[in-house]
Amino acid sequence: MAVMIPYTSSLIYLLSLMVLLFSPFGCCSDSDPLQDFCVADLNGTLSINGFPCKPISKVRSSDFFFDGFTKEGNTSNGVGSAVTSGNVLAFPGVNTLGISMNRVDYAPGGVNPPHIHPRASETGVIMQGEVLVGFITTENVYHSKVLKFGEMFVIPRGLAHFQMNVGKGKAMVITAFNSQLPGTTILPLALFASNPPLPIKVLTRTFQVEEKIINDIKSKFIF
Ligand code: GLV
Ligand code: MN
Repeated sequence: MAVMIPYTSSLIYLLSLMVLLFSPFGCCSDSDPLQDFCVADLNGTLSINGFPCKPISKVRSSDFFFDGFTKEGNTSNGVGSAVTSGNVLAFPGVNTLGISMNRVDYAPGGVNPPHIHPRASETGVIMQGEVLVGFITTENVYHSKVLKFGEMFVIPRGLAHFQMNVGKGKAMVITAFNSQLPGTTILPLALFASNPPLPIKVLTRTFQVEEKIINDIKSKFIF
């Protein structure tokens, strides 16, 4: 028996490693649901990975429909774009299903600033206008293309990306994620508008510029 325990645990370790390395699904999206649905109880007090389910007796058809994308987002802001989220927080019906969507509106010249989704890959389709879509790999290779109505893109999970309206009129894109809550780190906000702020020395040294330049940039990100 003394020999069996380490042998069993290394076998389990090896098997888990193989599942992690070779499963095409295990690493790439939110985990699979164990029931038909689990409409999120956003007020639940349990802390779990996702939200607890609403009692079935309280689930209604309306939990599975969402009209948040019927209205244009307000793009009157510094960057000229607006993201309307259809993630679990706005649309509790997607809880545990590993999917969500956004509507992104752009004023002419508007940009959805460089950002990262730590928990999802993103795909999107251009619904209106002409949009420059770009992402940067971890080796600093920049991939981009100008897309028009009906054309699609994909952004691999965790890579920095942006979209910019390069057409004459407004633009609109619908995006989709393999997570109910992909998370978004907006790079300029993370660096220049965190709470509490990053030490100024970190920023002056990182960008190798004077404090004044950092403060000028910061002043643009006070909403
Ligand atoms: C676009 O990049 C989005 O996150 O919806
Ligand atoms: Mn995105």
